[in-house]
Amino acid sequence: MSDRLFIFDTTLRDGEQVPGCQLNTVEKIQVAKQLEALGVDIIEAGFPVSSPGDFNSIIEISKAVTWPTICALTRAVEKDIDVAAESLKFAKRKRIHTGIGTSDSHIKYKFNSNREEIIERAIAAVKYARRYVDDVEFYAEDAGRTDNEYLARVVEAVIKAGATVVNIPDTTGYCLPTDYGAKINYLMNHVSNIDKAILSTHCHNDLGMATANTVSGVLNGARQVEVTINGIGERAGNTSLEEIAMIFKCHQQLDIQTNINTQKIYPTSRMISSLMNMPVQPNKAVVGRNAFAHSSGIHQDGVLKDVRTYEIMDPHDVGIDENSIVLTARSGRAALKHRLSLLGVELTPKKLDTVYEEFLKIADKKKDINDDDILLLAGADRSSNHAIKMDYLQVTSGIGVRSVASIGLNISGEKFEAAASGNGPVDAAIKALKKIIEREMTLKEFTIQAISKGSDDVGKVHMQVEYDGHMYYGFGANTDIVAASVEAYIDCINKFRK
Ligand code: KIV
Ligand code: ZN
Repeated sequence: MSDRLFIFDTTLRDGEQVPGCQLNTVEKIQVAKQLEALGVDIIEAGFPVSSPGDFNSIIEISKAVTWPTICALTRAVEKDIDVAAESLKFAKRKRIHTGIGTSDSHIKYKFNSNREEIIERAIAAVKYARRYVDDVEFYAEDAGRTDNEYLARVVEAVIKAGATVVNIPDTTGYCLPTDYGAKINYLMNHVSNIDKAILSTHCHNDLGMATANTVSGVLNGARQVEVTINGIGERAGNTSLEEIAMIFKCHQQLDIQTNINTQKIYPTSRMISSLMNMPVQPNKAVVGRNAFAHSSGIHQDGVLKDVRTYEIMDPHDVGIDENSIVLTARSGRAALKHRLSLLGVELTPKKLDTVYEEFLKIADKKKDINDDDILLLAGADRSSNHAIKMDYLQVTSGIGVRSVASIGLNISGEKFEAAASGNGPVDAAIKALKKIIEREMTLKEFTIQAISKGSDDVGKVHMQVEYDGHMYYGFGANTDIVAASVEAYIDCINKFRK
């Protein structure tokens, strides 16, 4: 019998921590339901003590999903654990994930403590969490740089205190695959009560080794992996779910099975990318735009003769359907609804009407409407409750002349207009905008990206604006890149703290 590997998804916790990737509760529920359909075993839904938003999201996710265990993160602090238990009250299956740093640098600099005291705090946190739930996971933060002998003592102690899963995070992404595998192996062989718990991997990708380290951990005995969709997460990200699921599917000889319905991988990847405004790099393994595109003549020739010459995975196995109906301006609501549901997005009839109207506008300007365009449209009404909306924008620009822009804004129902000139169309438009919104704000980052290709493409703009000591992230998408830029700026302003 093959071994079962549990998939612990932390897209909504480690992934959502990434600046600019924050989701609202409705979006988090949408993601959680998609993760359930994908077949993940555990959903880490947030760090409830960190904000009322996280707390409420865990409550709502717990109500919305049935099968996966819902997990809440805490520090080894009683107040955190109390709040986590409260946030999980509606979960059908619940887990508290508590822990503390165990490397010498964490013990000394973060906690100003010593090894023995840290073990005591770890034991106390696990025992306290067990008063609320039967399923307690302990994380030894920075385990990757923790001395193995001491780590084994920590693991043994927390299992004795009642931990059912012990997480061995390579928090800084420092470990080599051989060292990480050896660490898991050491724990499997030196912790006397290891048969009473599951070891979990949690690898970060700072040196591009997260997936390799995770596989090495599994080959040495870990039976849970902590992963995110598209590998998003702190800094360079976490191990990506899609890579792990496909590695064990492609390498059947390893005899490791997951519960992932791999055909839902691609739609889930697109959904996360769209909701979090986080593009997937084209050459990303498994889900990148080029992951199945053979461009060299030799490869194309081989694939046409027999796909097995250059393809180790069938694109259909990850849910890429190249034959899906092409959407155009003549497509009806039903075709749009069908495509959205393939992409994991279910809309109410009213929302579908709004998205369909926007779809027709884009379809008029653009020949082929691709999945990214559609997902953008589906997310477009996320700004419908924003106080500031753009009514119109007119810009004239050219070579040898100064650009001039006039803009109309609707701020909570009141109309405002302004005009300005600038050294380019975006500069002119933003200067006009700033004449209406008179605040001391500074544009810190500005990126424009075409979604696919073609001069009729939708441009996506990401912006960072600093205001009152805080950084705000905004997003805009439009076939007119000046309009997309202003939309992104307005998106930032709408998020300013009142
Ligand atoms: O990377 C890490 O150590 C973590 C823990 C909080 C599990 O994310
Ligand atoms: Zn992490």
